[in-house]
Amino acid sequence: AHQWRGVVREYADRLDVSDSTPIISLGEGGTPLIPAPALSARTGARVWVKFEGMNPTGSFKDRGMTMAVTKAVEAGAKAIICASTGNTSASAAAYAAHAGITAAVLVPEGKISMGKMSQAVAHGASILQLRGNFDDCLDIARELAENYPVHLVNSVNNDRIEGQKTAAFEVVEVLGDAPDFHFVPVGNAGNYTAYHRGYTEELARGAAGRKPRMFGFQAEGSAPIVRGEVVRDPETIASAIRIGNPASWELALAARDDSDGYFGSISDADILVAHRILSSEVGIFVEPASAISVAGLLERSAAGAIPKDATVVLTVTGHGLKDPQWALRAADGGEVSPTVVDVDLADVAGQLGLAANA
Ligand code: F0G
Repeated sequence: AHQWRGVVREYADRLDVSDSTPIISLGEGGTPLIPAPALSARTGARVWVKFEGMNPTGSFKDRGMTMAVTKAVEAGAKAIICASTGNTSASAAAYAAHAGITAAVLVPEGKISMGKMSQAVAHGASILQLRGNFDDCLDIARELAENYPVHLVNSVNNDRIEGQKTAAFEVVEVLGDAPDFHFVPVGNAGNYTAYHRGYTEELARGAAGRKPRMFGFQAEGSAPIVRGEVVRDPETIASAIRIGNPASWELALAARDDSDGYFGSISDADILVAHRILSSEVGIFVEPASAISVAGLLERSAAGAIPKDATVVLTVTGHGLKDPQWALRAADGGEVSPTVVDVDLADVAGQLGLAANA
């Protein structure tokens, strides 16, 4: 029986690998592109959700990590390093474990979700919490890679972007063309850059007849690209994209200009509203950073920027189980806690508001 072979094998003809490349894969990619009728009804567009939480470690990072670790092992690396807000470290740790090499990860102290931390621990990474933010972690990781025998697997490594561009290939394959708009969350802007590259390649080889306008969204308290300046102390509940100095800033601006794209920012409150809409109306559970794609669409649609019947793809980048606490927050800020009842049929039915069959 056939099974999906992971993005490096599936797209070997469009990546820098050869027959002798030792491919390190956990079967990533091939994620579902899910129609979202509730979002189509709200916006008048034809909305699809690319659910990247379905990757092996629960985020889109696996697409880039399979390629980065494959190339690292091909080059003889015995250790990889990354800075991370959580997902990159979970992915790096898993792929290093699979390859039988060492992963070291640098994370901001107390600022990554428990789900992500537990993955890095489980996969046996060497984890250091730095007394600083993500941007500080990336500075140190880059300097370590320059001066010590460790291979950097952050998205400043082009192999990461190359692996991640495959998500655009999958969208074109399913839709038969590129969408009109593609929305992504933005932290380092590596994924925004990767989608644009993937779509550009699809257009060039004739698989698509157009490129989408790339729309990227940052959290209001961490919106350096929107503000046009580095944010020294980025803040947002969307910890994955709490980044004040994006590594792919210049590449992303070029991609925006080339695609007639857009960068916007969204408040934490609106991120949580979109999070709830996506889970309760579409049935897709994501971490807060991912919900910003939905919030961005709702905001741009309300602004009149999305024509009726436009085809829109929203990438949601990480699974809800990565950082589930936000689902349990009630609108009043309290904790949702389901009612406790005795083991009693009539009581349970009553609490559920059910009347017995006639
Ligand atoms: N969504 C999620 C869930 C992420 O984890 C990230 C980045 C992004 C979006 C933004 O992607 O950086 O390519 O613009 N997470 C990185 C990490 C920083 O360390 O896991 P980007």
